[in-house]
Amino acid sequence: MNDLSNLNEPAAIAGIWADSRACGFTMASEPLTCSLLRTLAATKPAARFLELGSGSGLSTAWLLDGMDAASSLSTVDNDEALLAILKKHLGADPRLTVACADGDDFLRSLQGQRFDFIFADTWAGKYRLLDEALALLNPGGLYVIDDMLPQPNWPEGHAEKVAHLVATLEQREDFRLTKLSWASGVMLVSRR
Ligand SMILES: C[S@@+](CC[C@H](N)C(=O)[O-])C[C@H]1O[C@@H](n2cnc3c(N)ncnc32)[C@H](O)[C@@H]1O
Repeated sequence: MNDLSNLNEPAAIAGIWADSRACGFTMASEPLTCSLLRTLAATKPAARFLELGSGSGLSTAWLLDGMDAASSLSTVDNDEALLAILKKHLGADPRLTVACADGDDFLRSLQGQRFDFIFADTWAGKYRLLDEALALLNPGGLYVIDDMLPQPNWPEGHAEKVAHLVATLEQREDFRLTKLSWASGVMLVSRR
């Protein structure tokens, strides 16, 4: 088995990658993680999805490709240029709502709502406001994060933040989790 072969990527990906490279975006989610997101998304019919950190829409495209027609996805980023790429390639999908906002403000504005799947790929809901993000999950809901293994672009002091996040999640009695030292390092966290 070769986990990189026959990924069968969504049709929009080639165009999003081309535009992302052209604008110098360097924080894109990698294909293996995105493939896992799509597979997990397909296990949740008629579900509410939340993505924190849309970037240029790479992970967004894979999530949408796994979701069924009755599901919806809300995604947020604060970078208008990246969101323009996302909207160019994915904006016609009626299941998608795109917010250009500060992640912390957006996350706070969602309190009281419930989601079945959260991909937390920015500071908000991961290194900040973790409790607020986890509080949004329905029972059986999944919280997914990546970039948990050392990455070349980690700033000074980031490894300590990662270790603290892992320890915090491990201590939550109301969740079950699995750590995957695969791809960029993934954690799958489900609400009991
Ligand atoms: C790891 S990247 C997201 C990658 C994306 N999920 C993908 O598939 O390529 C993190 C994103 O967080 C966004 N970001 C950084 N600070 C933010 C903030 N305060 N509010 C909202 N988004 C923010 C960046 O613009 C960047 O697109």
